[in-house]
Amino acid sequence: MRTVHSLKELRTILRGYRQQGKTIGLVPTMGNLHEGHISLVRKAAEMADVVVTSIFVNPMQFGAGEDLETYPRTLAEDQDKLASAGNTLVFAPSAEEIYPEGLAKQTQVVVPDVSDGHCGASRPGHFEGVATVVTMLFNMVQPDFAVFGEKDFQQLAVIRKLVRDLMIPVDVVGAPTVREDDGLAKSSRNGYLTPQERQIAPAVHQTLQATAGKINDGRTDFQALESEAEKSLGDAGLRPDYFNIVNSQTLKPATAEDRDITILAAAFLGTTRLIDNLSLTR
Ligand code: PAF
Repeated sequence: MRTVHSLKELRTILRGYRQQGKTIGLVPTMGNLHEGHISLVRKAAEMADVVVTSIFVNPMQFGAGEDLETYPRTLAEDQDKLASAGNTLVFAPSAEEIYPEGLAKQTQVVVPDVSDGHCGASRPGHFEGVATVVTMLFNMVQPDFAVFGEKDFQQLAVIRKLVRDLMIPVDVVGAPTVREDDGLAKSSRNGYLTPQERQIAPAVHQTLQATAGKINDGRTDFQALESEAEKSLGDAGLRPDYFNIVNSQTLKPATAEDRDITILAAAFLGTTRLIDNLSLTR
């Protein structure tokens, strides 16, 4: 498995693979890889001849006061994990390679509507940063498909719309969330939790499950369900950011007529922000 840091090297190597008629799968990441990321790489390896995993902590998607500086950078460990997961090539560019003129002068991609609300409301500019870097990665790697985790449900919706609206010839593949034994969704940010916070963290998934149970029992008073869920998160020791019951396609508030529903949640434990979601069909 090779690691390259420049776009020039990346293009040279990928041109060779394309000339051999090989299919290319891309797994975009910010590194600090855990089992969730590795499941995306394994899925890509089942589907394509060549798997490129990008590792880039994208400054454009971090807001002021967020964890850009402290976000864990663990390239050597990530390389070991990728090598044993069937990855072919690691693309680990610097910020200068991706944004040579700096962020202020960078062309940005805005994906309207689906970027609004939920994480888009709590993290202004976040999805513009994601959509911009993902568009660039698609242009740099020109993969046949790219795999993203369903844990970032709104991000996946933003990327699907981006590809549709800009007619980018890349298939977007979603992969299920990987969880710890107690239900906590795997996330690089779980590493920030103190042992005491780690004990509380599964309450996010438990609250999603409890709410899904109430919907499956026939309740459609979604606003009341959201308030009940926010109260249980608070009682468990979390500070809810949002808990929204939405139509799975539009991400707008669910109505009693909706069949496919997704419950989106974000909550703080100390300074760590956890997100998770759960989809159900009624
Ligand atoms: O999900 C992530 O890790 C990031 O948002 C992504 C898609 C790699 C873009 O930086």
